[in-house]
Amino acid sequence: MRILVTGGAGFIGSHLVRRLLADKDHRVVNLDALRYSGNLDNLTDVSNHPRYAFVHGDICDPKTVEKVFKDHDIEAVINCAAETHVDRSILDPSGFARTDVVGTAVLLEQARQAKVARFLQVSTDEVYGSVKEGWSKEEDALAPRSPYAASKAGGDLLVQSYTTTFNLPAVITRGSNTYGPNQYPEKFIPLFVTNAVDDQPLPLYGDGRYRRDWLSVFDHCAAIEHIFRRGEPGGIYNIGGGNERENLAVAELILKHLGKPMSLIRFVRDRPGHDRRYAVDCRRLHALGWRPTVSFEDGLRATVDWYRSHESWWRKIKSGEFRAYYEQVYGQRLNEGSRFDVQS
Ligand code: TYD
Repeated sequence: MRILVTGGAGFIGSHLVRRLLADKDHRVVNLDALRYSGNLDNLTDVSNHPRYAFVHGDICDPKTVEKVFKDHDIEAVINCAAETHVDRSILDPSGFARTDVVGTAVLLEQARQAKVARFLQVSTDEVYGSVKEGWSKEEDALAPRSPYAASKAGGDLLVQSYTTTFNLPAVITRGSNTYGPNQYPEKFIPLFVTNAVDDQPLPLYGDGRYRRDWLSVFDHCAAIEHIFRRGEPGGIYNIGGGNERENLAVAELILKHLGKPMSLIRFVRDRPGHDRRYAVDCRRLHALGWRPTVSFEDGLRATVDWYRSHESWWRKIKSGEFRAYYEQVYGQRLNEGSRFDVQS
C-alpha cells in the first residue's frame, strides 16, 4: 500500500514511518513542514530506503497536498502532523487551529477525491478534557480545555463528518501521553531527563499530583498500525498504556535512574487550565486484539538511557529556538519556585 504519513519527521511520526517500512508491502511518503519539532535527524537511518520518500511541505496548503497525492498515487493516509504542546498553545494558540483543524480539512478533502482505502487520524485523549474519576469512552462527549485539545477535537469532528457524509473509510486513534526516544524536549519526560543530566532544576507544575497514563511510543505506533489494518471504518479507538502515574512519581523515577538528587525538583506556578487527569477506557482496542507490551519502568529506563547516549541529538535542539521558549515559559516560574522538601 502507498501510505502518506504526515508529520513523519516528528516524534510519533518518525517511529511510525520506520515501523511501516518494516512491512515490505508498504511504500511510505512522509510530508512534513519541518517546523520547530520536525527533525530529519529522526530518520537518518531510513532516508535512503528504496520504499521511502520525503516531501517538504505543509498540510495546510491544498496545492502541495494535491501534488503529493498525484505524484505518489497515494492509497492511504495517516495524519500525524499537528501542533501538540499545551504550553505553546497557551503562549500562542493561532497556529494550532491552522494545522490541527485546517490542515486536517485539506487532507480529508484530498483523501476523499483520491478515494483512499484508509484515513487514520492520530488524535489524543486530551479531547475528552480532565477526567475526575473513571475512564473516558470513545463515545463520551468531547470537552477539550486547552487551545491544543480544542484544535484536535475540531480535527476529529471533521474526520467524523467525512465518514458520515462521504463514506470516507476513516478511523480516529486517541492515544494517551506518549514517551520514548526522539521526543522534543519541551514535553515533560524529555525535559526533565535532559535538565537533570545537566543538573538543572525540574519545573514541576502546581502540586505535582497531576496524573497521566504513560504510553511507550513503540506501543503507540504498534497500536496505530493495528488499528490501521483492522479498525472498523468510522471507528474511534482509545490507546492507553495502562500506566497511570502522578507527575511527582515520574520525576522521582527519572532522578533515580540518573542517580540525581530530589533537590533538583522545583514546584512552580501552575499551567493555566491544567487538566488534573486523563484516563481512557481501552476495551474497544483490546477487543480488536491489541494490548500494550512495554512496562512503564522498563520503557522509562530505556528512554532515559537513550537521552543519555544521544546528547548531540537534544543538545542541538536545546541550544536553538528552544532557549527563548524555555525562558518565556519557565524563566519567572523558576525564580519564584520552591524546592522539593524531603519532609513533605
Ligand atoms: P506534557 O508533557 O506537557 O503533556 P500534557 O500536558 O499534554 O499531558 O505534560 C505532562 C504533565 O507534566 C502535565 O500534567 C504537565 C506536567 N508538566 C510539568 O509539571 N512541568 C513541565 O515543565 C511540563 C512540560 C509538564
